[in-house]
Amino acid sequence: MNTEIVKIDAANIDEKQIERAAEIIKNGGLVAFPTETVYGLGANALDAEASRKIYEAKGRPSDNPLIAHIASLETLDEIVEDVSDVAKKLIDKFWPGPMTLIFNKKEMVPDSTTGGLKTLAVRFPSNEIAKALIEKSGVPIAAPSANTSGKPSPTKGEHVIEDLNGKVDMIIDGGEVGLGLESTIIDVTGEPTILRPGFITQEMLEQVIEEVKLDQTLLEKPSEEFAPKAPGMKYRHYAPKTELVIIKGSAKNVAQRIKEETKTKNAAILTVDQHIELYKDIDAKVVSWGDLNNMDEIAHKIFDALRKVDEWGVDIIYCEAFEEEGLGLAVMNRLTKAAGYQVIDV
Ligand code: TXA
Ligand code: MG
Repeated sequence: MNTEIVKIDAANIDEKQIERAAEIIKNGGLVAFPTETVYGLGANALDAEASRKIYEAKGRPSDNPLIAHIASLETLDEIVEDVSDVAKKLIDKFWPGPMTLIFNKKEMVPDSTTGGLKTLAVRFPSNEIAKALIEKSGVPIAAPSANTSGKPSPTKGEHVIEDLNGKVDMIIDGGEVGLGLESTIIDVTGEPTILRPGFITQEMLEQVIEEVKLDQTLLEKPSEEFAPKAPGMKYRHYAPKTELVIIKGSAKNVAQRIKEETKTKNAAILTVDQHIELYKDIDAKVVSWGDLNNMDEIAHKIFDALRKVDEWGVDIIYCEAFEEEGLGLAVMNRLTKAAGYQVIDV
């Protein structure tokens, strides 16, 4: 397939290009586009055949449901049932933005969009290009992250081109995304529960509604007994080809353990500015994520970094763990998966 690549500037949107992209969506085709979280691979969420094409282009298992992206609250009422008061409070505060809510779906949403589930994930993005495309298309747009299944989510146009050139009709390159981690997913069909952590943290949600639970499996290896409620969270994800191991404990103990581990190996170390000194006499590549007190920046870098580590030419990477609170929970959720759950406590 010939993929058309167009550059669009979010600050000065070329309506003609958006119209052409919307035509592709209306005709059942695939368009990759930027959102404020990561790039999405879009198709008409109400067209069963169009949704199926997404799975094929990404190589995604068909039981892994898609998020429907909307650009107005009227559309929400058309596609889901039972928007509770709790959901309304969250919508008021956090939409448009990096939050996805799970509702009971209406009949008109095809099973191929929801992987056979009776629920539907919905998000109202704030990115101007995304909003313009959804509005012009006139339909909700089903969009998973625009990466090949298993690879880190794309935060730059070049990541999408690397993964999907030749497999989709159009790629809209809108430059680097603002946030860089996928949306926080909250199931609001029962007791509100976070199924995937993101920039909107448990603490932020609990300022708006009383209590938000955390799905038990956010940092653990999924098992028969503890299957994650977001089906996508059970698959190997975000993984570089190079082996990645996370070391958890006090900074001093972590550094001690990493020094021992790296003695006999061709290794790299992922640390933060505040701990770089601890690795000064070591025969390994030492790379900092940045300032430990700036988790936003670290979260923003994570997927681009996970795509680049394979170019380092090392056999194994040791990464310091982060505190699992606030945005640190989302960062550790992605890192733990990227490491295939190899976490050593020291
Ligand atoms: O920020 C984002 O959410 C990005 C951008 C493009 O909007 N999208 C995204 O989609 O991350 P994707 O497909 O890569 O991840 C969606 C996650 C998967 O883990 C999927 O299993 C879960 O949402 N999910 C979707 N529908 C669900 C449902 N009805 N119930 C539970 N989990 C659901
Ligand atoms: Mg994804």
